[in-house]
Amino acid sequence: MNKLAEELNTRLAGSTAEKLLSELGKRLYFPKGIISQSAEAKQLGKRFNATIGMATSGGVPLMLSGVKKQLPGLTPGEAVAYAPTGGDPALRKRWKAEILRKNPSLGSAPIGQPVVVPGLTAGIWLSLDLFLDPADAVIAADPCWDNYSLIVEDRKGAKLLTYPYFDASGGFNIDGLEKALKSSPKGKAIVILNFPNNPTGYSPNREEASKIIQALVSVAKSGKPVLALVDDAYFGLFYEPGTNTESLFASLASAHENILALKIDGSTKEDFVWGFRTGFVTPGGKGMTADAYEALDGKFLGAIRSSVSCCSTPAQSIMLKAMDDPDYEADKANLKAQLAERYRKAKAFVDRVPPPSRLKLLPFNSGYFMSFECVGISAEALRLKLLKEKGIGTISLQDRFLRVAYSSVDAAGIEELYGEIYAAAGEL
Ligand SMILES: Cc1ncc(COP(=O)(O)O)c(C=O)c1O
Repeated sequence: MNKLAEELNTRLAGSTAEKLLSELGKRLYFPKGIISQSAEAKQLGKRFNATIGMATSGGVPLMLSGVKKQLPGLTPGEAVAYAPTGGDPALRKRWKAEILRKNPSLGSAPIGQPVVVPGLTAGIWLSLDLFLDPADAVIAADPCWDNYSLIVEDRKGAKLLTYPYFDASGGFNIDGLEKALKSSPKGKAIVILNFPNNPTGYSPNREEASKIIQALVSVAKSGKPVLALVDDAYFGLFYEPGTNTESLFASLASAHENILALKIDGSTKEDFVWGFRTGFVTPGGKGMTADAYEALDGKFLGAIRSSVSCCSTPAQSIMLKAMDDPDYEADKANLKAQLAERYRKAKAFVDRVPPPSRLKLLPFNSGYFMSFECVGISAEALRLKLLKEKGIGTISLQDRFLRVAYSSVDAAGIEELYGEIYAAAGEL
């Protein structure tokens, strides 16, 4: 094993992260190569900096005028220079401040520095690189975002262990989660928690949220280390009173010495920049010291450097400036209000007009989506009928669920959309 990896492992010794590391995670390190030597030269190489593979003039990156024209608000350094492996330090600091602001119950629990990743998808697989071996399993609710199985099973060669999302009363299925935790392989429990959820659009209420935490704590108390991947892709889009509006990361970060939580979030949906590919992974856990957080950061840098190398610079520069824009909060509130209006229209329709017997309405209260469970009909057949006969695009999952992204339909069209879905299901 590389000496630098051994050094990081020594610094992680005794921490929750050490108990959870995968074989790859143990091997990873951030090399003292081009990137770290060039970072040193940035500080000290004042005469000539002949380190990094960029072309500069007077220390400023060269830039095509056609590119410059498109990015008038950015300096060449902000537009085309390589970003540091873990992301722009100012953006990392700023995002951490945002996490603390949006999750007041984090209080003074020490958490790590967010590391920048190219979107939440990368946040998930890079985290799993560090902690998932093929003999492990990842627990997720069913239905869940379909990419989880592609990442966990097909990319990583491990098992996705699922439990039904809802219990018989239509609430979050705590029993199901507890059973899945019990049946997870020995050694460690890895669980993905995604609220607001894709595809159901259901987020737990405060009582359910605290039961989820209790379920993880009880596994941790039994001596099994727990990795909680908190996928907060749709964070902030809560539309009903009583919903738990803080990230579960806030509680998990100080819940138990055997729990390590990784908050996987990002600008993608929170800041309406889907194609920017700017996401973050932030670790939090009672069994982590300041030094262990730094060593874990080194592991993430190794995972990033050996895969995507670094993330888009202009996207990070734009997001940092946008977050400081005086209209940032008001603009966001305005866009969120548009989504809330679409939610209310969809909710009002399905509450007023009962769906045909072949569509079971699943509870929803947040995010972008809602889903119907198809009873006695094929969800794919319904999707194709809607598409080919009515010109309406929806998503079928497992041939069982029809997911409707009301987030991408103007409020004026919502009633018509649902009317057509009902009619098509009735005709099948
Ligand atoms: C639950 C969930 N997690 C993660 C992502 C991926 O986000 P990103 O586009 O930043 O990779 C999505 C996107 O659809 C999602 O629905």
